[in-house]
Amino acid sequence: MSQHAEQRAPRRSRLHRSALATVAAVTLTAGFLVPAALAQAAPAPAPVAVPLAAPDIPVANVKAHIAQLQSIATANGGNRAHGRPGFKASLDYVKGKLDAAGFTTTVQTFTSSGATGYNLIADWPGGDTNHVVFTGAHLDSVTAGPGINDNGSGTAGVLEAALAVSRAGLQPTKHLRFGWWGAEELGMIGSKYYVNNLPTAERAKIDAYMNFDMIGSPNPGYFVYDDDSKLEGVLKSYFASVNVPTEIETNGDGRSDHAPFKNVGIKVGGLYTGGDETKTAAQAAKWGGTSGRAFDACYHASCDTSANINDTALDRGSDSIAYAVWALGTEAPPQPGTVFENTADVQIPDNGAAVTSSVTVSGVTGNAPAALKVSVDIRHTYRGDLVIDLVAPDGSAYRLKNSSTNDSADNVIADYTVNASSEVANGVWKLKVQDIAAQDTGYINSWKLTF
Ligand code: TRP
Ligand code: ZN
Ligand code: CA
Repeated sequence: MSQHAEQRAPRRSRLHRSALATVAAVTLTAGFLVPAALAQAAPAPAPVAVPLAAPDIPVANVKAHIAQLQSIATANGGNRAHGRPGFKASLDYVKGKLDAAGFTTTVQTFTSSGATGYNLIADWPGGDTNHVVFTGAHLDSVTAGPGINDNGSGTAGVLEAALAVSRAGLQPTKHLRFGWWGAEELGMIGSKYYVNNLPTAERAKIDAYMNFDMIGSPNPGYFVYDDDSKLEGVLKSYFASVNVPTEIETNGDGRSDHAPFKNVGIKVGGLYTGGDETKTAAQAAKWGGTSGRAFDACYHASCDTSANINDTALDRGSDSIAYAVWALGTEAPPQPGTVFENTADVQIPDNGAAVTSSVTVSGVTGNAPAALKVSVDIRHTYRGDLVIDLVAPDGSAYRLKNSSTNDSADNVIADYTVNASSEVANGVWKLKVQDIAAQDTGYINSWKLTF
């Protein structure tokens, strides 16, 4: 379907632009190119919000966290599993780093298999709390081993990306939240518990959940979850920027902590560098490594130690986390003038039933404007045949045009203004068109709403 929502920002508010400038100044030292549109003061219209430059995450820092997690496992019977002391020690380590960096941390407890489990949530103060960008990883290992690739890697990468937010003094437009889940290896118990206990209104504020489970596989591939096309695109654009090919993770649905979020309608994405699946010859040709061998031969085994990590994969995976946090977290909220459009053709049956074309509005706070602009492009050989309504998400209809027996011109290419101030903006809006007289016919070519 070719429906899409375009976000055009003809001008940023003065307040917003200065906020961007402040943040950009802090992050300009990073290794990424700054888009020219951001570097200049000109109010360049941006078809898609331009993310601020993300920092290059020092892989040495990520490895230092991994070394700590390995030491914790070694000191606690060789694992960091749910209900074992190595799990809580891991949580205390991550929490200590976040607290020292200025995050607001929350430990959520639950019970599973007769043992107390814990989730760690960290909020970065600031940003629009109606638009939460959530990044997470599971913190537990299996009992068989220290769980360093699965999932010390994601734990450490997400931690270091969060610490980079603090180092940058990032002032994101959206609110940043990070999560480290307990008891994933028992069936995503911790993340399910978190989502189940999140009120519906809070769930609705989460714009994205990005999951990182196994990002340092020793014989790595780069698999991007394909659940939400925008979130998939963000990670793919990171990998494109470092010229690393990716594949779609086709086996991942339901296999990690993104699943509980996805199941309640939250958009999810993530990265996986491979587990016990075998790397093919084609994959070895594109990524290097060894074909005919597992991406991670130590998956869920005692040998998943700090030696079971590919540093390049870990580095790229960690950089991709920061890239996604910056891209999603610093995205401009929809500005007045945001356009939502459907360009798919819809045939209008001659002298027949009404047809509709939908536009999904999202990211707009509150109600629709008192002067909502509805731009209609209908191609037809006798426009008098047509009755046109705008239908709001709650079903209320606004008549745009009545039929007429003496309006013989072609086409309806017109802007209408509707007082839609009693309608909630977000949701599915429809253009409803009916042809009420025989012979002349046509189709909806496109239509759009300007908020
Ligand atoms: N913890 C996950 C599991 O054991 C790891 C995993 C395997 C995974 N395949 C995946 C995570 C695909 C994400 C996507 O099932
Ligand atoms: Zn895992
Ligand atoms: Ca007709």
